[in-house]
Amino acid sequence: MTFVADQRPAFGGAPCHRDMALSKRRNKMARDRAPTDNLVIAVDGPAASGKGTIARALARHFGLPHMDTGLLYRAVALKLWRWGGDPGNEFETLRACNDLGFAPDDPELRSEPVSKIASSISAYPTVRAALLERQQAFARQPGGAVLDGRDIGTVIAPDAAVKLFVTASAEVRAQRRMRELMARGMPAHYDDVLGDIRSRDERDSGRAVAPLRQAEDAILLDTSELDVDQAIAEAIRLVEERIAAA
Ligand code: CDP
Repeated sequence: MTFVADQRPAFGGAPCHRDMALSKRRNKMARDRAPTDNLVIAVDGPAASGKGTIARALARHFGLPHMDTGLLYRAVALKLWRWGGDPGNEFETLRACNDLGFAPDDPELRSEPVSKIASSISAYPTVRAALLERQQAFARQPGGAVLDGRDIGTVIAPDAAVKLFVTASAEVRAQRRMRELMARGMPAHYDDVLGDIRSRDERDSGRAVAPLRQAEDAILLDTSELDVDQAIAEAIRLVEERIAAA
């Protein structure tokens, strides 16, 4: 099934979570804040830092829609790959941004070749500009949203109420990526995975446009020593603390 991402609010692998208990929690949050407030939560961080898992959990907890912005870059990469297009050609890559429809659960979106292409084409300023409005419209929707990526707190939603910068050591992230690949039946060598993580970090942080960096007002969450449940609990605590302080 293919659909245009904009037509579905939560396309980060998680459905839109708006069950009763969640909307009750959300309603309480809404009562505690000014009526015009929109709760926008920006979650940024490097590859395999756990930002996607944390962003999905925050969206569930606060009853907000979630966008995994990396999927947009992956969708452009996959389209280009299927066309047999040249990722070294910015104009061709830009053409792949038109009418971008994709199935978020397509396993090829997370395949290694597509990950590599996504990482390189995301450095094109025209590609980033082509995907900007769609992300900003998502962040502007009434009630708020959770977005995760590389430049949410710095470029897409600089006014977000809460910004988290989720990180972990390259070694821990490589181990997590290994487990992910293994679970998908794609075993890999640790050294290759670590090397790949390091070169993606370098590309993401070194590019001229919207490089990966912690926004000045973002809260740093290092998950190196935390398991998934601890990381989620800490993220929720940090967001609640920031809201209470606002
Ligand atoms: O899950 P992982 O962190 O490995 O990657 P992702 O978040 O799905 O992003 C895929 C690629 O898109 C990354 O290598 C980034 O270079 C790029 N990206 C970006 O430039 N800006 C974003 N807001 C999100 C992703």
